[in-house]
Amino acid sequence: MPYDLIVLGSGPGGYFCAIRAAQLGMKVAVVEKDKTFGGTCLNVGCIPSKALLHASERYDEAGHLFERMGIRLGKPKLDLAAMMKFKDAGVDGNVKGVAFLFKKNKIETFEGVGRIAAAGVVEVTAAGGNSERLEAKAIVIATGSDVARLPGIEIDEKRVVSSTGALTLAKVPERLLVIGAGVIGLELGSVWRRLGSEVVVVEFLDRILPGIDNEVCRQFRRMLEKQGLTFKLSSKVIGVAAAGKTLQASVAPANGGAAQTIDADVVLVSVGRVPYTGGLGLDEAGVKKDPKGRVIVDEHFATNVSGIYAIGDVIAGPMLAHKAEDEGVAVAEILAGQAGHVNYDVIPNVVYTHPEIASVGKSEEELKQAGVDYNVGKFPFTANGRAKVNLETEGFVKILADARTDRVLGVHILGADAGNMIAEAAVAMEFGAAAEDIARTCHPHPTLSEAVKEAALAVSKRAINM
Ligand code: FAD
Ligand code: NAI
Repeated sequence: MPYDLIVLGSGPGGYFCAIRAAQLGMKVAVVEKDKTFGGTCLNVGCIPSKALLHASERYDEAGHLFERMGIRLGKPKLDLAAMMKFKDAGVDGNVKGVAFLFKKNKIETFEGVGRIAAAGVVEVTAAGGNSERLEAKAIVIATGSDVARLPGIEIDEKRVVSSTGALTLAKVPERLLVIGAGVIGLELGSVWRRLGSEVVVVEFLDRILPGIDNEVCRQFRRMLEKQGLTFKLSSKVIGVAAAGKTLQASVAPANGGAAQTIDADVVLVSVGRVPYTGGLGLDEAGVKKDPKGRVIVDEHFATNVSGIYAIGDVIAGPMLAHKAEDEGVAVAEILAGQAGHVNYDVIPNVVYTHPEIASVGKSEEELKQAGVDYNVGKFPFTANGRAKVNLETEGFVKILADARTDRVLGVHILGADAGNMIAEAAVAMEFGAAAEDIARTCHPHPTLSEAVKEAALAVSKRAINM
């Protein structure tokens, strides 16, 4: 009997989609080419990177902060192999969790590369070469993304690494050169800096973290510089050559000119990710892609071929796990005849450095460009009681509200635990809140979240603790 749904890929997009479809009574199969479920996010992305960020932050705190709080342990000693085991155990627990959920929801799983042979037909080829044909009323492509490469710079995952190799280095590199001051470069650059590397970040643009509110990024860059990261902005790496044990990167001004050489032990290439459609047979099936290789879908996640849908990193939009998850749920509900929907105006974005950056909605630059009149409410963590006792006073909360209606248009937090705090702003925006609504909501004391309330009060110039 054919399946109601075959999902290609078991990342956050695919596994959320499969589970929601099963909850709605569909007979579901998932095809995954890798040995473990969970995709980029659980295996080589969100989860292992956050494990290393968490562990390296504790290591850094033990070295710098503990003594100020009266905890004397002596100089902390790094056991990198044990830290990597800690990270691997976290990954293992998560990927096994997905396998458990598939069983619990009676989802059938197939290990192998899935290829769309025709609408409604998927051919699965296992590592040994054996293949089988599966049939379904609907197919959802959730095959995710892969590392973007730079011409002439070969990634060997040992000395010239992508994020995947940077999550498994056996030794702390003395000198790490990071290409790209995006999310991966700054998160993994922070990890290795804390563990002892000298880190230089080369960025093509004249700023870090393109897309994130500029005021936040300017302050954040100064904080990272204080932590020991060095930035070479408006620059590009045009080649990496090995000279014995040293790698020599040629770094030139972005708009041309003489190159200089920067020596490194490890080079991390983190210049973005590209949609992954290898082996899927999309051209033969007639599924259309855009010039960036992303599968084109309509507002119901349907491709141009009837019965074939796509979600997650393989389609347009931010390459974020929670965006893929929400699209997975939405498409399953649409297939079940419900009104699945994703609100792309309210997708939070978090950079898990220290301090964290978290934002949702529009940046000041975007509002200016759109000609929207807005008010700004800002509140620094130096004025928040809990931040003071925790010695976590770096950063601020900024709320942007429509000047006419007071509706919240964007919230930007630079500070400890910003990632957890942004969820409140997302809920408020989803409900169409005004800054006044946040300002009048009772927030628990003493918490960092009071800074969100104070920033909302500051929109109408009536913050209390400032
Ligand atoms: P993926 O997770 O990439 O899953 C796709 C799956 O499809 C893979 O398992 C793949 O093996 C499988 N597949 C591909 N082709 C086939 C085929 N033909 N047949 C069968 N199976 C196939 N996002 C966040 O929101 N927060 C973070 O903190 C975060 N940290 C990240 C850190 C790093 C280092 C990286 C690289 C990414 C991070 N991301 C983060 C991004 C996040 O991982 C992705 O947005 C998310 O995984 C996308 O989910 P997806 O389901 O679309 O694809
Ligand atoms: P990115 O798009 O975030 O950043 C890439 C950076 O490289 C940009 O600043 C870009 O200007 C720069 N760049 C591009 N070409 C360059 C060149 N030739 N020389 C120098 N700089 C160059 O991509 P990144 O960091 O690789 O991450 C990929 C994606 O993974 C992210 O966009 C995000 O969607 C996801 N991710 C999300 C995380 C999170 O949510 N916390 C963490 C890690 C990844």
